[in-house]
Amino acid sequence: MGNAKLSAGGKDFDYSVLSGSVGPDVIDIRKLYGQTGMFTFDPGFTSTAACESALTYIDGDEGILLHRGYPIGQLAEQSSFMEVCYLLLNGELPSPGELKSFSTTISRHTMLHEQLMQFYRGFRRDAHPMSIMCGVVGALSAFYHDSTDISDPTHRKISSHRLIAKMPTIAAAAYKYSIGQPFVYPDNSLSYTGNFLRMTFGVPAEPYIVNPVIERAMDRIFILHADHEQNASTSTVRLAGSSGANPFACIAAGIACLWGPAHGGANEAALNMLREIGTPDRIPHYIERAKDKNDPFRLMGFGHRVYKNYDPRATVMQQTVREVFNELKVTDPVFEVAIQLEEMALNDPYFIEKKLFPNVDFYSGVILSAIGFPTTMFTVLFALARTVGWVAQWNEMISDPNQKIGRPRQLYTGPTERDYLPLDKR
Ligand code: ACO
Repeated sequence: MGNAKLSAGGKDFDYSVLSGSVGPDVIDIRKLYGQTGMFTFDPGFTSTAACESALTYIDGDEGILLHRGYPIGQLAEQSSFMEVCYLLLNGELPSPGELKSFSTTISRHTMLHEQLMQFYRGFRRDAHPMSIMCGVVGALSAFYHDSTDISDPTHRKISSHRLIAKMPTIAAAAYKYSIGQPFVYPDNSLSYTGNFLRMTFGVPAEPYIVNPVIERAMDRIFILHADHEQNASTSTVRLAGSSGANPFACIAAGIACLWGPAHGGANEAALNMLREIGTPDRIPHYIERAKDKNDPFRLMGFGHRVYKNYDPRATVMQQTVREVFNELKVTDPVFEVAIQLEEMALNDPYFIEKKLFPNVDFYSGVILSAIGFPTTMFTVLFALARTVGWVAQWNEMISDPNQKIGRPRQLYTGPTERDYLPLDKR
């Protein structure tokens, strides 16, 4: 711990510098306004640490992502989504007994209140499944009052388990509703991911056999999306939760934030872009467009606020595409377009200088489409997987003794005080 000096208005001020276990130090400016009468100005929070967290660490320059210290590549390769959920929630990897008991607990919460299933019928069939997710997840608080006392750790634990367990059921039902098929109820004899695949692609008229290669690929995609430090949707969950709102409402807020194309909507946008490009010979035209300041087009699935190197999740995704394509014998030209686009962009001075690399969304759409998901479901799958990160971060925030309501300030640029003019005088 050291000090940072600030000179303002002819006076010097000292601020403590705090160190985490790894990563940049932070200047503790909590007393800045009281001492100087000034705020800091940091739209988009590019230089602001809004909280302490022991969950996830990212080194964007080196392309490192750790959950509770474990590298994402090792987790994606060797663990399961349930293990990662346990790790994020509890801080340590589970023993075999702990994992079994945790998985059983989650599976006991997979059903939805039957009345909640009726909610779906109020949506238009062509509603975007993310709009259904926002609505149904927000409505959970109307059904599970018995776990909304946020000051009670047991309530928090139960609502966290409920959210993780029910999200696949809610997501699969949103899909089934959009295609006019009956809802498929959970089968707790299957894994978390196998159950989700069956609820999504199974029909009551036939048995559904889970393909283990697709189950593993899907599980890995869930692991890759489980948490990602203080991203926009997680910060939204924290901000909503900082007012004391119930966890279901907070996660619904996170889902709404995730929906945007600059965040979770990017995989849908990336696949649409790859399909629009269509053939490798058209790639240079799109690269030129992405570089043109007068053209709003960006290479979707490229660039990241934090990663200024290859997103480690994109590496695993690229490998998973090959496995899924081999298993399903898919020959979608979109994969070839993705590979060549990546190569051309990575060798282009514009992308090199700006440190723009493929992010997790660049390949995820290609895989999800091969598995059979429509593009409108991509962000839903992201929301499903990120739910554990959101609830883990929300729990961490609620248990933090320094927690305060999130309330940023502003640099006001509007009119100064003026007198109201009656309507007939304007
Ligand atoms: N294509 C072309 N140029 C780009 C791209 C891109 N995908 N991304 C950034 N740039 C350029 C910008 O035009 C800007 O150029 P300038 O400095 O000359 O003005 C520079 O790189 C920096 O970009 P910013 O938008 O300022 O960076 P920021 O950190 O705010 O944005 C973001 C990050 C939103 C991810 C951006 O890279 C982007 O829009 N990418 C495409 C969307 C996407 O893939 N989003 C998924 C993010 S990952 C996730 O949510 C899971």
